[in-house]
Amino acid sequence: MLSKIKSCGLKGIEGFIINVETDISNGIPAFDLVGLGDVAVREAKERVRSAIKNTGYEFPTRRITVNLAPANLRKEGSALDLPIAMGILAATGQVDSSLIDDYMIIGELSLDGQIKGINGVLSMVLCACQEGIRNVILPKENADEAAVIENANIYPAEHLEDVILHVNGHRSIKRHTVDVKCLFDIKEQFYENDFSEVCGQENVKRVLEIAAAGSHSCLIMGIPGSGKTMLARRLPSILPPLTFDEALQVTRIHSIAGYLPPKTSLITTRPFRSPHHTISATSLIGGGKYPKPGEISLAHYGVLFLDEVFEFDKHTLEAMRQPLEDGVVTISRLNGSITYPAEITLILTGNPCPCGYRTDETKKCTCSYNEIQNYLSKLSGPLLDRIDLYVEAMPVKYKELNSIGNGENSSQIRQRVIRARDIQLERYKGYKIFSNSQLSGALIKKFCKLDSKGNALLKNAFEKFNLSARAYNRILKVARTIADLDESADIKSFHIAEAIQYRVTSLR
Ligand SMILES: Nc1ncnc2c1ncn2[C@@H]1O[C@H](COP(=O)(O)OP(=O)(O)OP(=O)(O)O)[C@@H](O)[C@H]1O
Ligand SMILES: [Mg+2]
Repeated sequence: MLSKIKSCGLKGIEGFIINVETDISNGIPAFDLVGLGDVAVREAKERVRSAIKNTGYEFPTRRITVNLAPANLRKEGSALDLPIAMGILAATGQVDSSLIDDYMIIGELSLDGQIKGINGVLSMVLCACQEGIRNVILPKENADEAAVIENANIYPAEHLEDVILHVNGHRSIKRHTVDVKCLFDIKEQFYENDFSEVCGQENVKRVLEIAAAGSHSCLIMGIPGSGKTMLARRLPSILPPLTFDEALQVTRIHSIAGYLPPKTSLITTRPFRSPHHTISATSLIGGGKYPKPGEISLAHYGVLFLDEVFEFDKHTLEAMRQPLEDGVVTISRLNGSITYPAEITLILTGNPCPCGYRTDETKKCTCSYNEIQNYLSKLSGPLLDRIDLYVEAMPVKYKELNSIGNGENSSQIRQRVIRARDIQLERYKGYKIFSNSQLSGALIKKFCKLDSKGNALLKNAFEKFNLSARAYNRILKVARTIADLDESADIKSFHIAEAIQYRVTSLR
């Protein structure tokens, strides 16, 4: 007998349909699994055999061949255990195969038949909907995440027996739903770290506000102890909330990487990732033998904070060049390429030299010219060209330190950021972008028009600092964000002047 069960695999963050075809014929008892499965898929044989037996059903002592179609795409992970088991049960007539056609089945099995959670369920359910499959049987652990897709009927199962009884019509599994609107009803969130704790540093606060509003990349330089790390760590408290579409994308990536906390439907706050400077290029960008999203993709629609950027490996930093430009990471492997989204707000901090005091008026810098050049060369010209906002954190004065609590708090700044982001969301409706940093060539021309005074200013700066075409575009995008924070429909000359002021031309 032959049976066919629909299941799902992952390529990057996209799901693809896998047809689990099971053939049982007479002959010497054997269990063959073909169709480019990885080790976890091949090991499914042992789990499936034990799970079926321990659930009280018959495991055929005949020749079993399972084919995972399409045979040319690699399949990874343990999500195919349950469909393989159901395929064998259908092929042996223990499950009514006519009723199983309009289901997608995914899940890992343990030896006693329990169904365990898997990674990447959200992408799989989205794939089911795109392919017109409405019913999805999946592990109970993943039910909240899957039910976010309201078009799909989600049937969470705890045990192989539940699935068999449901499909045979003996005991139905209750459809699982979540109230998506309720997830976005976020009350004023409490943040442990607030901008009101930072004394002085008004210029850095302003830059971080612009970075948060338009999702621009930013480099903060300054002497040790001036509060760079402290300021950057407070950025999450002023970030605008995620839209539903953004949240869906962020959740898909975290789910595939296996970082979605249990019982989470949707990630509704922007990610803030701050990897240590010893991170490898693969962990930052993604990839590996069994490709996984890297930190840059886990920070999608959020912040990637690289503290002490000059301590990172130069090649690791350089690997960010393409994703920073395109907003996606493409990893090529022998059997095809994988794309992960990477639309990030990059925040970098660093000291001006190895000893840290080159820009300090009171302390003497002990570094040689060569040491300084070596140190600063970690950030290459092309990488620096991708930085929208450059700011120096000056030493804090005693008078400022004494005035704790007088600065603006995060909630006040956040309100301005949210207003500026709402303006952007309204303006870019229908363009599939969410912030000024995502503007591309044609859209920059359309939305970042300058008056004659602004034009003259930019022309002057362009010629004086020998700016690149990229720098020109990026200045316009920053100016658009500054105008949005000002709630001004037009970019005025003082908006462009402020944007030019943040442009880094050289660190030397
Ligand atoms: N502007 C400030 N207002 C209030 N406290 C500050 C300020 N700057 C620094 N501090 C205090 O100093 C501590 C160290 O600051 P932080 O780690 O941010 O410095 P840094 O600039 O990152 O230094 P480094 O270059 O050594 O990493 C903070 O935790 C905070 O307690
Ligand atoms: Mg620091």
